[in-house]
Amino acid sequence: MLILAPSLLSADFKCLGSQIETIEKAGAKYLHLDVMDGAFVPSISFGMPVLKSIRNCTDMIFDVHMMVEEPDRYIHDIKDCGADLICVHQEACVHLDRTVNKIKEAGVKAAVALNPATPVSSLEYILPSLDMVLVMSVNPGFGGQKFIPYTVEKVRNLRHMIQERGLSTDIQVDGGVTADNVGTLIEAGANIFVAGSAVFKGDPAVNVQAFLDVFHRYEGK
Ligand code: DX5
Ligand code: ZN
Repeated sequence: MLILAPSLLSADFKCLGSQIETIEKAGAKYLHLDVMDGAFVPSISFGMPVLKSIRNCTDMIFDVHMMVEEPDRYIHDIKDCGADLICVHQEACVHLDRTVNKIKEAGVKAAVALNPATPVSSLEYILPSLDMVLVMSVNPGFGGQKFIPYTVEKVRNLRHMIQERGLSTDIQVDGGVTADNVGTLIEAGANIFVAGSAVFKGDPAVNVQAFLDVFHRYEGK
């Protein structure tokens, strides 16, 4: 199944509730929540109080992308805010195996994100423990950046690695994803797509529908 995960980072923060309602009604299933600490990435976004508050206004899957150093420190708090999936960066975790186990013990789905320059081979041993791998297609930290083309090959290699092992791990792509390039990513083997500016710039309902139309074409509906 192909899934759209709008990134709240590009939403209009003065009316978060109604923006969330709009994309949910339009058919988005995941809500991608970018938590940034100003250390792992240059920028600071939002954290626990925001997650907790918006949890009450939607049933969408909360997909929390932790762009923070030592994410272990926050796993329980993030889960308590209603996260369904917690994604940590490979580059931020010295003891990645321990961190992934901690996420699973918390009872939520576990994912690992790879920066553009980090090879998929770095996940060779942890892959069977993961529900999802996030392939970053921009350098993390900001919305609205240009898609890095070589990441398509990373998706292809990762899908091959997953299939070779008989796994069913989701592949998410995040950064510069649009309704125009999402087809290439589907063909490469990704199935969950984060989109910030491509959803919230202009009319979010129309933009969500544009993604869903592409998904339906590939799903043969
Ligand atoms: C970037 C974040 C993304 C960002 C994507 O570091 O992880 O989720 O919001 O925004 P767009 O789709 O505009 O590149
Ligand atoms: Zn993200």
